Amino acid sequence: MDSFLPSPDCDTISKTYNGQIDSHLIQKTNEGYREILPNLPRGKGWMTEHLVQYQGVWLTPNFALKGLMWVQDHFKPRSTDIFLATFPKTGTTWLKALTFATVNRTRYGFADHPLLTTVPHGCLPFLEACPNDLDGFRSPRLLSTHIPYTLLPNSVTVNQSCRFVYICRDPKDVLVSKWLFMNKLRPKELAPISLEEAFELFCQGISHYGPYWDHVLGYWKANLETPEKVLFLKYEELKEEPSVVVKRLGEFLGHPFSLEEVSKGVVEEIVKLCSFENLSNLEVNKSSVLKLSTQIVIDNRHFFRKGNVGDGKSYLTDEMIKRINEITSEKLFGSGLVFGS
Ligand code: A3P
Repeated sequence: MDSFLPSPDCDTISKTYNGQIDSHLIQKTNEGYREILPNLPRGKGWMTEHLVQYQGVWLTPNFALKGLMWVQDHFKPRSTDIFLATFPKTGTTWLKALTFATVNRTRYGFADHPLLTTVPHGCLPFLEACPNDLDGFRSPRLLSTHIPYTLLPNSVTVNQSCRFVYICRDPKDVLVSKWLFMNKLRPKELAPISLEEAFELFCQGISHYGPYWDHVLGYWKANLETPEKVLFLKYEELKEEPSVVVKRLGEFLGHPFSLEEVSKGVVEEIVKLCSFENLSNLEVNKSSVLKLSTQIVIDNRHFFRKGNVGDGKSYLTDEMIKRINEITSEKLFGSGLVFGS
């Protein structure tokens, strides 16, 4: 599959991002990284021991910080690039599958589709997870990112006509999904994070790529300002009417479904292929792993838990629900964006 390259080791920026970039420039980024790291504010990590705050966002000190710095310093966008932007645990895996299947629907048949044998993250790489030669990808490149819109380089957000699809989700479901997921990845030598602790950290904004609300608002504003560039979706809407959203996705990405495709049920085939029930029961997603770096190897099955709307509420106390709803109303006040109760 030419849209996917395995991610290399992530020990240093220079070792990782060695594609077409001048080694002096790489060295400069490396030096900058070493210089800033000791002085960054630290918070408790969910999966790693610490998170660090850089340019207002909380990141893992190794993988995510280096990824962001590399993107800011070296990423060369193409005008045809398509970015799937998400905050972790809001539906990244699902959106990747749907987008990959939609854009490539004339290339692959449903009976022997790559998504039947490859985890969606393997079909569509993370920009900041450093595939070592994005230049080798054919256009349009499908890339995903957790980087907040406001921290992406101008070459991506202002100067290029590349497109973004963003998906957000009710913060209560994001928090609980993230807490359960991160504890599975947390090294044995670190004690698990309790829900109370995760809740406090999340509310303070201290979680990977957090604060959550700032992340959402960055893409929401970009969508209001440049709707032709940024499509803004909600996990809950996708659950409710997947076929409607997939048609919107196709239209937005310049791959609209023809009347013939619609009448033949192509949209429904894509929805079925990418459904939680189908993907979570595939052998590859039950037993294989995703290797993001030497340190980060994730069992594919962890990407599929329940896939329900409102599940977060069954873990949180009434008081927690009240507090997170209040923070959400306060943060989103005046933006025009709302989540359910
Ligand atoms: P839950 O933990 O609430 O079940 P991400 O892909 O951003 O890591 O998000 C993971 C969440 O999306 C998990 O939510 C997971 O179960 C859910 N998910 C994964 N694949 C899905 C699919 N095909 N349809 C619906 N939800 C899905």
